[in-house]
Amino acid sequence: MTDRLKLAFVGCGAIARFHLDGIQGHEPRIDVTALVDLDQDKAQGFAEETGGRVFTSLDTALAEGDFDAVDIMLPHDLHEEAAIQCLEAGKHVLLEKPMAPSIDACDRILAAAKKSPCVFMVAENSQYWPEILEAKRHIESGAIGDIITARAAFIYAFDDYWFKEARPWRYEKGRTGGGIAIDGGSHWIRPLRMWMGELKEAVGVLGHPLDKMEGESLARALFRFESGATAIFDAMMIDTTFAPEPWWRVTGTKGELTINAGLDGSNLWLWDKEHPEGKELFASAGYTESFGPELSDFTSAILEGTELAAGPEHAVGELRAALAIYRSVESGKWEQVWE
Ligand SMILES: NC(=O)c1ccc[n+]([C@@H]2O[C@H](COP(=O)([O-])OP(=O)(O)OC[C@H]3O[C@@H](n4cnc5c(N)ncnc54)[C@H](O)[C@@H]3O)[C@@H](O)[C@H]2O)c1
Repeated sequence: MTDRLKLAFVGCGAIARFHLDGIQGHEPRIDVTALVDLDQDKAQGFAEETGGRVFTSLDTALAEGDFDAVDIMLPHDLHEEAAIQCLEAGKHVLLEKPMAPSIDACDRILAAAKKSPCVFMVAENSQYWPEILEAKRHIESGAIGDIITARAAFIYAFDDYWFKEARPWRYEKGRTGGGIAIDGGSHWIRPLRMWMGELKEAVGVLGHPLDKMEGESLARALFRFESGATAIFDAMMIDTTFAPEPWWRVTGTKGELTINAGLDGSNLWLWDKEHPEGKELFASAGYTESFGPELSDFTSAILEGTELAAGPEHAVGELRAALAIYRSVESGKWEQVWE
């Protein structure tokens, strides 16, 4: 087996920049040898940096390109077809979250992955976010005692960076599968699962304060975990000014951990009897630091046969949580996440 991985970017939009920065800063074993995008200029921009070959269709890239793995970064409604096509062509597949907009589509992708000898991974970068991993270590070492509850607050003043007019698909429910709970919300739900174990059920309400967005731009939900512990999931993307607030707060019998974060960095704080004013435990560039380790996990699984930090079946959990919230809005009741 070779010690290098030839990778094709399939979709060269906003998140591709973060993936390439992660590779350049963290994963020297990857050569990006193909760049696929309907928009040739976008692919060309990355080709100039990587030396890879430009393609404007996945069909042509699979027929003529030189790569062993693909990193699929397409709108959600295109995930299923592209992932299955690449798995059937014998490529290892890294697929941006969510796996697909519906459980049926996820099941079809998982079935194709089971038939393939290749690695299939869903890219959920919060699995590798330094403060979240550091919080997990402190929780496991008993820093805050037994977890009682937590709050994940995806509170994001509307900023068109991820939602530029060039990406109108993110406003369309038919293309994303819903709204912010299914989309950015996954990055707030995964850490709760990492710290508190598996989700059992959810109940919530949705709102639409952002006129442009067809799906919800407000989701406020309660989660109950298999352990019996509960957490609040708050997701708000509104064109307003928010007061500062931790993105995560984990409350235990001995104290609390909080993570304050933004796209430009994050920090982890401990609050307990010895530190009633709080103590900073860790700080880093945060979110942007998560993509390098994510790409490394995928690369090591292919080149060394190591186990993924989170397998693809596990990665359906965030989608299931969002769908359970949506169902609960209809039923007015708690809904099972893994029904
Ligand atoms: N991990 C994160 O923090 C994070 C952040 C943003 C987006 N994402 C995910 O990344 C994925 C892409 O999101 P984005 O914000 O980069 O979107 P984007 O719209 O910026 O990029 C998508 C790209 O796909 C191209 N494209 C569309 N149809 C195509 C086709 N048929 N063939 C080839 N190229 C095609 C578009 O031209 C565009 O360049 C989504 O799954 C999204 O949820 C993850």
